[in-house]
Amino acid sequence: MRAATLLSAGFLASLADALVITRAAIDKCLVDAGVPIDVKGTDDYKRDVAPFNVRLPYTPTAISVPLTTKHIQDSVKCGKKLGIKVSAKSGGHSYASFGFGGENGHLVVELDRMYNVTYDATKNIATVQPGARLGHVATVLYEQYNRAIAHGTCPGVGVSGHFLHGGFGFSSHMHGLALDFVDSVTVVLADGSVVEASSTENTDLLWGIKGAGSNFGIVAAWKLTTFEAPAVLTRFGLSLGWNKSTAVAGLEAVEKYAKNIQPREVNFRIGDYNKGQPGIEGLYYGTPAQWRKAFQPLLDTLPAGYNVSDPQQLNWIEAVISYSNYDNVDWITPSPQENFYAKSLTLKGLNGTSAQNFVDYYFDVANNVVDRFWFFQLDMHGGKNSQVTKVAPDATSYAHRDKLYIIQFYDRYENNQTYPATSFGFLDGWVDATTKPLPESDWGAYANYADARLSRAVAEDQYYGDHLPRLQKLKAKFDPKQLFYYTQSVQPKA
Ligand SMILES: Cc1cc2nc3c(=O)[nH]c(=O)nc-3n(C[C@H](O)[C@H](O)[C@H](O)COP(=O)(O)OP(=O)(O)OC[C@H]3O[C@@H](n4cnc5c(N)ncnc54)[C@H](O)[C@@H]3O)c2cc1C
Ligand SMILES: *[C@@H]1O[C@H](CO)[C@@H](O)[C@H](O)[C@H]1NC(C)=O
Ligand SMILES: *[C@@H]1O[C@H](CO)[C@@H](O)[C@H](O)[C@H]1NC(C)=O
Ligand SMILES: *[C@@H]1O[C@H](CO)[C@@H](O)[C@H](O)[C@H]1NC(C)=O
Ligand SMILES: *[C@@H]1O[C@H](CO)[C@@H](O)[C@H](O)[C@H]1NC(C)=O
Ligand SMILES: *[C@@H]1O[C@H](CO)[C@@H](O)[C@H](O)[C@H]1NC(C)=O
Repeated sequence: MRAATLLSAGFLASLADALVITRAAIDKCLVDAGVPIDVKGTDDYKRDVAPFNVRLPYTPTAISVPLTTKHIQDSVKCGKKLGIKVSAKSGGHSYASFGFGGENGHLVVELDRMYNVTYDATKNIATVQPGARLGHVATVLYEQYNRAIAHGTCPGVGVSGHFLHGGFGFSSHMHGLALDFVDSVTVVLADGSVVEASSTENTDLLWGIKGAGSNFGIVAAWKLTTFEAPAVLTRFGLSLGWNKSTAVAGLEAVEKYAKNIQPREVNFRIGDYNKGQPGIEGLYYGTPAQWRKAFQPLLDTLPAGYNVSDPQQLNWIEAVISYSNYDNVDWITPSPQENFYAKSLTLKGLNGTSAQNFVDYYFDVANNVVDRFWFFQLDMHGGKNSQVTKVAPDATSYAHRDKLYIIQFYDRYENNQTYPATSFGFLDGWVDATTKPLPESDWGAYANYADARLSRAVAEDQYYGDHLPRLQKLKAKFDPKQLFYYTQSVQPKA
């Protein structure tokens, strides 16, 4: 009854009035400063307010659309002045709609009109604007300069969200995380100042940016190192044919290989996109014949029943395109929307009871979820020869370099359906079963696969692990009043 009284017509009308007044004030502040904005109801507004995950739509108070660092700076100043939370949006591909703050009412700083990429060969530094998408960055670097960076596979993902929290893809075992390519950044801070963070200036800020970067400011420019685009790569794959009685042995064979044997040049993951038909897909730095030799120790130990597909030799951009599932990756617009819930695990290993629980749930529960599309992907992230592991665990705020695997779990309905609340238990149950036997120090979650349903305290802990206390101090230093708050942002603690 109390709720009914509170939500009286008069109360709602005054709330709506307050929103209109706030929106008018923030729009005026932005326009007065010369910052482009999206006017509500326009096509641009509709495009920019559309979330990648249609399950989580939010209504901003305003959307600014900067073209310069000064526009970003003035957006931050307007948010600060009017007491409105500010959220940067790069590619807008956050699983939890964190580009909107994960709630209504923020000033969204839509960065995706800033997508230019240039390269200085004398310094080996690419300068990338903060709203460029991965496919565009890869295309420009390759076509104009024959250079490359290791990053994820989706061409529509934004450089900023991706590089700020990790960035794992088909070159990461070979070359590291996307954030390992960050030389320096230009950042707009909560006080409205613009600073550089590099190995010589604001080094603590750079440390925080490389792993938990959505918490401290808005990155307005990236300076990235690159490697020469390889001319000879091999895309390989196999169908594993595992069943409930062979899958644990299969996982143990994979674990042995990934931990100690997998050469740096072998990149791969296990995935199932077809309800009980797991396979391996990967990219090798070398020819098909060299791949076969490097992979043979795993083939020798896998349970019988697998089939190896014909490996394909590709150059760099062909490999990027091949793994994108599109014909062209030079994107400056968002990916098609999806309606889903996702979770992740970072794991030191998946063996014994934990592997048995994962497999039992896979075959007994997951394979019976037949009314919709779901997948899991288990990435070979760490191990002795992985470039991810070669960087010291505390060198950046990314907290998972001691983890062998990243697993992503993804559960999707059609966009015209409602994701039912009763369906969350499907992935929750899989993750709970897998982690139940594990000590807390053996697992976490990956911030780039944000799980919108974790409480803020649990999310901080799973995403940032041992690095959390240091990140909370940094938050207190750079954003004590939480201008850049979102529903899972790091809490400031002095
Ligand atoms: C189809 C698809 C495929 C994917 N594949 C991979 C993959 O292969 N590997 C992988 O590691 N990940 C992958 N991801 C996850 C992806 O890396 C994350 O969702 C990433 O955070 C998205 O970045 P964005 O800029 O597009 O997102 P946004 O929603 O724009 O931003 C994400 C977060 O970063 C903040 N942010 C954005 N820009 C800035 C800025 N300039 N300064 C400060 N904070 C900022 C936002 O406020 C938000 O909190 C995939 C995601 C999708 C949707
Ligand atoms: C990108 O580069 C082009 C060509 O130099 C320039 O015209 C445009 O203004 C740049 N865009 C931004 C957002 O800086
Ligand atoms: C492997 O190929 C054989 C012959 O085509 C087929 O019968 C079998 O189902 C395949 N197994 C897997 C795991 O794809
Ligand atoms: C599981 O696969 C193995 C290897 O292909 C096979 O020998 C066994 O019969 C299968 N078991 C079941 C229960 O299908
Ligand atoms: C099993 O996994 C744990 C982490 O959960 C790891 O510490 C251990 O080394 C693994 N065991 C083997 C035999 O790989
Ligand atoms: C919902 O979307 C799916 C996929 O696009 C389509 O096949 C189906 O017909 C749609 N259903 C309705 C009721 O519109």
